[in-house]
Amino acid sequence: MAPITKLAAVTGAGQGLGRGIALRLADAGYELALLDRQDCDETAAQVSETGGTAESYRIDVADEASVAHAFTQIDERQGAPTALVNAAGVFLDTPYLETTAEDWDRVMAVNARGPFLVGKEAARRMSDGGGSIVNILSNASVQGFAGESAYCASKGGVLLLTRTMAVELARYGISVNGVGPGTSQTPMGADYLGDGPIAAHELSRTPLGRWGRPEDIAEAVAFFIDRATWVTGQALYVDGGFLATGLPHFDTA
Ligand SMILES: NC(=O)c1ccc[n+]([C@@H]2O[C@H](COP(=O)([O-])OP(=O)(O)OC[C@H]3O[C@@H](n4cnc5c(N)ncnc54)[C@H](O)[C@@H]3O)[C@@H](O)[C@H]2O)c1
Repeated sequence: MAPITKLAAVTGAGQGLGRGIALRLADAGYELALLDRQDCDETAAQVSETGGTAESYRIDVADEASVAHAFTQIDERQGAPTALVNAAGVFLDTPYLETTAEDWDRVMAVNARGPFLVGKEAARRMSDGGGSIVNILSNASVQGFAGESAYCASKGGVLLLTRTMAVELARYGISVNGVGPGTSQTPMGADYLGDGPIAAHELSRTPLGRWGRPEDIAEAVAFFIDRATWVTGQALYVDGGFLATGLPHFDTA
């Protein structure tokens, strides 16, 4: 019998968590459609070094025509995706009173409208044979962080988009879950972290005592995509215990 092709589309695959997720899914036997507004050459090369197959597509996830065009290209070159990971995102660290309407629209467009648009294109193609979708959330989906009004609103929105997609798409055999990273070592994470007192404070509130790595996040995504046969509408926070902590973590031993 011919092997069943498992095709995963991953947005934001050009670097950071999206790249780590693409590599992990390649390891699980998925062919990859790598989607990003920048080129995905490095990710594609790494997938191919491990024996996997990947094609790259330029996309602006916030732009409906660009999203539709990218999926038409995937249809022609690789066929219908069986999995989707919405990892593309942007971060903004600006006080609420200084955040402009343009800042707000840009962050919401990429982080919330993006998964909404990309999810629809993918789900339409999965509606015959089922599939699995993971939206990348954040600790900021469920907590307020100073300087992150637009970011928190966008990630909180995607949490409820995830649940609603799960409820509506279940009839097509499509599961939809969320993975919420804590602060992780990626280009975005590096922008946020710096060496300042906020980073030190955040680490002191992280029981497992280190920042996330792309592999940590990718493992949770792979679980939902490849293993979770009866799980939908859930969110898993992969954050070293940050959300579980009420007070800074002191070593009491
Ligand atoms: N790194 C962290 O600490 C952290 C924590 C929580 C959540 N997240 C979330 O994880 C996801 C990945 O973050 P990361 O750390 O890898 O960020 P990153 O900045 O390193 O990578 C983001 C990728 O998204 C792409 N992208 C941005 N806007 C796009 C657009 N309009 N269309 C297509 N591609 C676009 C970028 O080109 C880049 O390749 C994001 O959704 C982010 O909000 C990250």
